Amino acid sequence: MARRLMIAGNWKMHKTVAESVELARGVKQGLKRSDLDVLVAPTFCALEAVARELAGSPVLLGAQNIFWEDQGAYTGEISGPMLKAAGASHVIVGHSERRQYFGETEKTVNLRLQAALRAGLTPILCVGETQAQREADATQGVLESQLAGALAGFTPEQAERLIVAYEPVWAIGTGLTASREQAAQAHALIRSWLAARFNKALAEAAIILYGGSVKPANAAGLLGQDEVDGALVGGASLTAEDFLGIIEAA
Ligand code: PGA
Repeated sequence: MARRLMIAGNWKMHKTVAESVELARGVKQGLKRSDLDVLVAPTFCALEAVARELAGSPVLLGAQNIFWEDQGAYTGEISGPMLKAAGASHVIVGHSERRQYFGETEKTVNLRLQAALRAGLTPILCVGETQAQREADATQGVLESQLAGALAGFTPEQAERLIVAYEPVWAIGTGLTASREQAAQAHALIRSWLAARFNKALAEAAIILYGGSVKPANAAGLLGQDEVDGALVGGASLTAEDFLGIIEAA
């Protein structure tokens, strides 16, 4: 089955509102391809301004996190309906930086995914092993338990609405990338887990992105793998030139 590629840029905690709008404009103006999905994920405070800049363009807008309640006395949190109203269609959930620095657990990832679906947002669920886990030959177990925890209680109808990003923690922001074979192997593993837990059709249709030091120079090799349906890009999404370079190479 032909799956549509997606190239997504996670701007993390970079760029002011004005800088975000400028970067979004650069991506929009330089985008020549319509055969794949392109998404940018600015900080919360830039979402609405970037949505305005991207109006009428095919570039999709995502948020970087979501709280699991829809509203209430939760100082500092941002809900699904708020993200939706700001113009987002997608949201990253369970990024390793959230797991590492902000106490994200399987349970909170699960709650955030549910909140995203409730709000009509497409979640991009991030999973991935650390260097130590890979060296201990624990990659498969780690990925499977992250998926099982994140998707606990999910029906196939819910699960088919999400995108998965395989992001080996040791490759994020380090300049190291998984080899093509390592990426293809992890993606295949995620796909077979989805087939076993839900069904084969869902697994075959699932979009599974690779993330971890994707650059214009290595994008073609990674994205040339049948199992790899696109990229979630951090550092190299911070300039229009590099991000467009990855899109061109895809
Ligand atoms: P990186 O980040 O491209 O800077 O390694 C990837 C990610 O965290 O999604």
